[in-house]
Amino acid sequence: CGIVACILKDNRAAPVLLECVRRLEYRGYDSVGIATADPMINIKKDRGKIDEVDSELDLADLPGSMGIAHVRWATHGLPTAENAHPHTDCTGEIAVVHNGIIENYLEVKEELESEGHVFRSETDTEVIPHLIEKYMDEGMDLEAATATALRKLKGAYAIAAISSREPGRVVGARKESPLIVGVGDGEFFLASDVPAILNHTKNIIYLDDGEMVIIDGDVRIRDLDGNTVSKEVHVIDWTADMAEKAGYDHFMIKEIHEEPGAVRDTLTEMDDVMRVVKEIGEVERVCFVACGTSYHASLVGKYLFESILGIPTDVILASEFRYSARALTDRTLAVFISQSGETADTLNALRSANSRAKTLAIVNVLGSSATREAQHVLYTRAGPEIGVAATKTYVSQLTIIYMLVAAMGAPELIEKLEKVPAIMEEALGDEDNIRALSSHYSNVSDFFFIGRGFSYPTALEGALKLKEITYIHGEGYAAGELKHGPLALIDDGVPVVAISPPGPCHDKTLSNVEEVRARGARVIGVGSTLDEALRKEADDFIGLSPEVDEVLSPLVYIVPLQLLSYYVSVERGLDPDKPKNLAKCVTVE
Ligand code: G6P
Repeated sequence: CGIVACILKDNRAAPVLLECVRRLEYRGYDSVGIATADPMINIKKDRGKIDEVDSELDLADLPGSMGIAHVRWATHGLPTAENAHPHTDCTGEIAVVHNGIIENYLEVKEELESEGHVFRSETDTEVIPHLIEKYMDEGMDLEAATATALRKLKGAYAIAAISSREPGRVVGARKESPLIVGVGDGEFFLASDVPAILNHTKNIIYLDDGEMVIIDGDVRIRDLDGNTVSKEVHVIDWTADMAEKAGYDHFMIKEIHEEPGAVRDTLTEMDDVMRVVKEIGEVERVCFVACGTSYHASLVGKYLFESILGIPTDVILASEFRYSARALTDRTLAVFISQSGETADTLNALRSANSRAKTLAIVNVLGSSATREAQHVLYTRAGPEIGVAATKTYVSQLTIIYMLVAAMGAPELIEKLEKVPAIMEEALGDEDNIRALSSHYSNVSDFFFIGRGFSYPTALEGALKLKEITYIHGEGYAAGELKHGPLALIDDGVPVVAISPPGPCHDKTLSNVEEVRARGARVIGVGSTLDEALRKEADDFIGLSPEVDEVLSPLVYIVPLQLLSYYVSVERGLDPDKPKNLAKCVTVE
């Protein structure tokens, strides 16, 4: 989620908050809301992306010179208008926006309800305005009431609170969720991060955990016990566009760098995976259904389910589902993988499977259509992905599939999975090498990606990334299949990316590398840093941790291939975040 607050010299709070919160949309786009104080609190909020809600409610049309705003990325409590922030107390005199999770909210809510407080949402956040109301009713001012409320709460938060009882004042606080203060010329801001307010000020105070800020024509920082804390004001030299991407040039490269964290966060869902596996019960056959990158994650699922669990598994493109999926039974588990949960092809297949099989959706967007229609749901915890080409959602989907396999009979996988984020970080450390070698490939017209077994889906996904963002023709092939046709296309200098982690397929892939080399191909070997044989055959070499074997390789070996496509795209002067003709979410068949 993302939060913003401001106190301005004129009555433009709502338009300014809207502009600021737009810059935070990458932190969440489930719902949006703005509250201003004039001095009465006025609120507009609803479910949906900022543009959608704005065209319906005209968010900038609220009176007043101060206010708070929020974009939500739902984790608990569906994305609905009621659950959208800001939240208020019983009287509507106190409004709060919050990023984080209040862990003991149920207990606090029960206590407040027994005292007569009436709640309107399912969120943890709503206890905050009610607690502030309670303490203000006891005679405290907004600052003391907020501090007392926060001392009672467990969990993580960044908040901003306003009250019509104390016009002209915003109280903010942070614990384990980011919050910064912007000090303008007689104008003051709070925000989840710097990009939100860069158009207004470059003078920033970074709050630390346990600190509160009071802005009201001046800025005061205190701890929760009321002691004054002195802070430095940093003058930063970012531009608004740079900072929105946290210093990266594009969302795609930022999201690639978020992959270790996305895998780590997804691994925390193990209890949920165990619960769902128990609910699903006996499974005789698995059928994965998906499109695009999610289809490639599904292919890895097939190799895992068949080779590790011995369960017969099909993978069907969602758009082909109605023409080929006939043999579904109540012992078939049909797994629908979709980052957005809104892809029309996947949703139609899900609807037709629901009456014939057990259905499970693996989705990144909470409350999306697939999560409402499938019998069972598991969430990837990648956070919002803005780049059209899927990156961190792909590795998160793979993580959930490995976790499913672990829960269905291969618990030894968990220990291996826990090592993956650190190994991915190591792979990202090789970025300069990949950037340098991609400059040799920006003017070619064709690319081949080859791999066997678990590396075959990686080859397909590597080729898809290349096509999507560089517009170079890229083909992923099972290495052993090359000789049955595409070898005719290999000529002098044609780049072939050979994906060859240590394991049973290694030597056979190496023979295929020799075949393409003999026809003049320029080989980019991707393998273990200890793989001298591949290094010798390759013109360019990308080395990855020798700890990663074939079974785990899809999670790690895709990282350099995403980087390769990204840097070739940049080298060609393209915008990797917005490939031509493509959309992040395709809601037509
Ligand atoms: C679109 C996107 C792809 C994505 C595919 C499936 O084509 O451009 O990046 O892989 O849809 O999307 P989903 O949200 O169902 O995973």
